[in-house]
Order: sequence, then C-alpha cells, then structure tokens
Amino acid sequence: MTAPAVCIAGMGKIGVPLAVQFGSKGARVAGYDISAERCAVINDGRNPLHGEPGLDEKIPGLVVSQHLRATTDPRQAAGGADVVVFIVPVDIDATQRPDFGALDAAVDALAPHLKRGALVIVETTVPVGTTRTRVSARVASTTGMTPGMDFALAFSPERVSSGSVLLDLQRYPKIVGGIDANSTARAAEFYHQMLDAEILPVRDAETAEFSKLVETTYRDVNIALANEFALIGDALGLDTLGAIAAANTQPYSHVHAPGPGVGGHCIPVYPYFLMEPETADVRPPLETELAATARRINNGMAHYAIDRLAQALGTLEGTTVVVLGLAYRAGVRESRHSSAFGLANALIARGATTYVHDPLFSDSEIRAVGLEPPPSWPLACDALVVQAWHRQYHDLDLASFPGLRAVLDTRAVLDPGTVPSAIAYLTIGRK
Ligand SMILES: NC(=O)c1ccc[n+]([C@@H]2O[C@H](COP(=O)([O-])OP(=O)(O)OC[C@H]3O[C@@H](n4cnc5c(N)ncnc54)[C@H](O)[C@@H]3O)[C@@H](O)[C@H]2O)c1
Repeated sequence: MTAPAVCIAGMGKIGVPLAVQFGSKGARVAGYDISAERCAVINDGRNPLHGEPGLDEKIPGLVVSQHLRATTDPRQAAGGADVVVFIVPVDIDATQRPDFGALDAAVDALAPHLKRGALVIVETTVPVGTTRTRVSARVASTTGMTPGMDFALAFSPERVSSGSVLLDLQRYPKIVGGIDANSTARAAEFYHQMLDAEILPVRDAETAEFSKLVETTYRDVNIALANEFALIGDALGLDTLGAIAAANTQPYSHVHAPGPGVGGHCIPVYPYFLMEPETADVRPPLETELAATARRINNGMAHYAIDRLAQALGTLEGTTVVVLGLAYRAGVRESRHSSAFGLANALIARGATTYVHDPLFSDSEIRAVGLEPPPSWPLACDALVVQAWHRQYHDLDLASFPGLRAVLDTRAVLDPGTVPSAIAYLTIGRK
C-alpha cells in the first residue's frame, strides 16, 4: 500500500507530533498553520515544541527526506492530499459556549483545495454532531461535493497528553467513527497504516465525538467528587487524601485527587461541549445536572483554598503572596484555564499583593496573561501557594523566603515534615 499524502491543519502541541508520527510511517505530510513563524521553524528542521520527547531527534530527518513540511498556503497544504486531518483548537468563549472560529476558518481555507475522493478527519474535540453537520456542510457548500459520495468524513478523538504524545499514540486505542460505514472503514484503514495502536471503530461520527466528551467529563466529575470529599474532610478534620488512597486499593474505586480547580484546555472545557450539541434536532443548552454541578464545584475550589489561607494568616489584606506555577500542570508550558488564575484572582480580591512565578514562562509571558511576576527571586513574602509543582521547585528552600508564614500546598506534594514549624502548612484535603 503506498503511503498517503496527508495535510494536517494546526501545527500545535498535537499537530506537530502527529505529523512526525505519520511522516515516520512514510506519509508525505504537509502541515498547515496560520503562523508563518511556526511553519518556518518546522521547515528549518527545528522542533517548535519544548518538552515533547522524540521530536528533536525526528524532525530534522523528516524535513530533509521531504516527509514533513509546513505552510501557511492552503493550496500547497491540501492540494493533492489524500487525507486532511483537522487538529486546530475549539475552546469556549467568555460565556462558556464553544468557539468554532479556528476550526471553521481552517475548514473554509482548505476545503476549496480538497480533491475528489479525499478522506477528511476531524481530531479536534468538538460538541457532538459537529463533524456531520458543521464540518460536512461547510466542505459541501464550498466545494459542491457530496459528503460520503465525493469525500469520506470521520471523527477520531485525539486522546494523547502533551509531554507524551508519541508514546500515547502507540498505547491508547484509536477510536474512529465516520458519517457512514465507508468513512469509518477508510479512517480505520488510514490509522492502521499510520499508528501501531489498536484501532477501535465505533458506530458513527457522533459516537466517536461523544466518547471524548465521556472520557473528559468523567474526569471532571471525578475530580469534583474528590473535591467534595476534601470539603467534608476538612470540615471534620479528617485526612481525606489518606482516605482516598485507602479507598482506591479496592479495584472499583478510582477517585482522583482534590485540588485548586481543573486547568488546561480539555477537562474544564469539554463538559460545556456536552451541553451544546451541534445537532439539528436538539436545542442547546442541554440539561446536564451532574456535569454542571461538577464544573461549579471545581470552579469554586480556588476561592475555598484561599479562604483557608486567609484563616491561617488572619487576613490577606496587605500581605504578599506568591503563586508557584502558572502552568495548568507540572512540567507543561501551557497556561490555558490554569488554576493559577483562580488562585491569583481570589488573592487579589482579598487585598493581597499577588505574584505568579513559573520557571517555564518569561516575565513578559506572565504579564501577557494579566498576572504579575515576582520582582526578585526568592523574595520576602507572607505565603507561598503551590499550584504547579515543576521539577525546578523540588529543591525549593522555604527558609530563603524572608517573612514566610504559611505555605498553601494545593497539590499536597510537600513533605509536611520538611516545613519549618514556624510556617503554617495547609493543603486541600489534609489537616
Ligand atoms: N494539547 C493537548 O494536550 C491535547 C490533548 C488531547 C487533544 N487535544 C486536541 O488538540 C487540539 C489542538 O490542541 P493543541 O494543544 O495542539 O493546540 P495549540 O494551541 O498548541 O495549537 C493549535 C495550532 O493551530 C493553529 N491554528 C489556529 N487557527 C488556525 C487556522 N485557522 N488554520 C490553521 N492553523 C490554525 C495555531 O497557530 C496553533 O499552531 C485541542 O483543541 C484538542 O481538541 C489536545
């Protein structure tokens, strides 16, 4: 079987490793992105992503052998492609409704260059129905081609995590669902060629879209439950983390960890997609009692955590507090929907001079998201709030922060025995 020509729309944290994976399997990959800078880095044979294993080694060779190139020109990207994969983001807007701007723009740009018989795959996480209604209609209206007849169309959720994408592509089954049986079969055949993972066809595109929302909403609801346990445990003076760890030794108990909220561009976003299906026969927002409650609980945790700190210090008015970690999780240079925002805003609202420190971001990058980096490091402060426990913090010396009176360890990562007795040590879920 000859290796296909593949166009991947979105050369981001997932699109680039995906291009490397497909290129390594012999596909001729054209990455399409609106960022000329991103395309230039790739065409230079350099890795645009930090901390994604395997890319530094593979990108130069793939570019030289012409298995990987990137372009801002939609014609060059999609013209002649056998397969077009969309992996541009769909986020939520300020009113928590899906923002399809990037996906619509990418579809509209590439569709005019789609060849008859091509396979189109949406990998971006989307509300149920998006592939069959929105994407299909846009391609059809731009090209005059009939979905299912003139081009195949499928959805295949991207289940990987940044930081381990190439490994995850091998180990997680690849779910595929098309708008018809032929589209499902063609997508399954494509991924058989491109991946070493098990391929898991499901009934249709909607089932595949739904599966990703099931996976992510499950985690959000699970974390909300852990947070509710922590609220109860803290009120009663219990060791909630110990109780969860003990409970999870039973094979049917999989309770996640409590924390200051849920960050990143997936878990706190996709429960809202569940409420906004893109189907003609259901009018959103859909009633989703449990998912909505979980969102509310998780969004409230930053205020709860800062309330605990305020109680320990008496007041936060006039204090100086440093949040450790802008990133939404340790080791990842991504701040979207990070709990750092909720914690910093709660501190500022209570009158604390608030700084956010992160070794993975420059001062100007921290300012660019509306937060203030510390003027010096380490600095005199009343409290530290552990938000993302980066490797660089592991040998942090609490004694080097003059005046430090409290540490709020929202991830329960410090050994309480190492915290000097003069410093109050607080967590969520452990006394
Ligand atoms: N990052 C993750 O850990 C992760 C995990 C699972 C699934 N996903 C899925 O992958 C999607 C993309 O995530 P990401 O982390 O790669 O995003 P990202 O922000 O790192 O990259 C997105 C890229 O798309 C480009 N882009 C934006 N609009 C475009 C357009 N109109 N045409 C072409 N390119 C455009 C941007 O310039 C950027 O390079 C997510 O929305 C999600 O559905 C991500």
